[in-house]
Amino acid sequence: MRVILLGPPGAGKGTQAQFICDEYQIPQISTGGMLRAAVRAETLLGSRVKQVMDSGDLVSDDIIITLVKERIAQPDCANGFLFDGFPRTIVQARSLAEAEIDLDCVLEIAVPDEEIVRRLSGRRVHEASGRVYHVVFNPPRQAEIDDESGDVLVQREDDKEETVRQRLVVYHSQTYPLVEFYRQGSHSNPVKYHEVNGLGDVEVIRAAVMNALAS
Ligand code: AP5
Repeated sequence: MRVILLGPPGAGKGTQAQFICDEYQIPQISTGGMLRAAVRAETLLGSRVKQVMDSGDLVSDDIIITLVKERIAQPDCANGFLFDGFPRTIVQARSLAEAEIDLDCVLEIAVPDEEIVRRLSGRRVHEASGRVYHVVFNPPRQAEIDDESGDVLVQREDDKEETVRQRLVVYHSQTYPLVEFYRQGSHSNPVKYHEVNGLGDVEVIRAAVMNALAS
């Protein structure tokens, strides 16, 4: 199974990605997660992307495309993968088509802008694993502590309201065009396209996502 999860920041891509990857036993390829790991490790890549990420803008297509191509060449991607946060631009999507990387499904999680700011201000993450929580909508068993490791949860730098609003502007101008790109089947091979309503209970959305993938 090769899946793309599309949707605005805070739509719940990371949340639903965890369920899909467990169900289909495929790795989650989160370009945002990979970039944040590079920033934490203070690598050359991390130093090049930190400022762009903190401002809510997109990292350059060249960097991202190289990162993704290297990642999907790893053995754990042999039976499929889930892209979470990639592609983010038409250039990135075309690079997949040009590399003849076929896809089974593009799944859009649709959430209106007003809900996004509310969600992201309450998000907490476990940095090492990428597990995602929300202080109200999806709380850990113990406040501010990761359920599995017992580590302290953190708030992402780019979850400040002003940065979230900039990320939404970038989403509408650069990423939303991918909805039409994939709906119209612009990829080299036909790919199934599903839109799931991302408003409501996480478990209800999970069921809708699983139905869409199985159809
Ligand atoms: P990235 O890490 O990809 O961030 P994003 O797309 O902005 O997505 P988020 O992780 O913010 O949201 P999500 O949809 O995964 O939501 P989540 O499940 O966490 O990218 C970060 C940055 O990296 C970019 O800004 C850019 O600079 C760079 N970058 C990354 N990829 C790039 C690329 N391809 N090209 C160029 N630059 C790139 O949920 C959000 C919150 O809501 C959580 O607290 C969750 O618990 C809660 N929640 C989830 N579902 C529900 C629900 N149904 N009801 C209520 N709350 C819910």
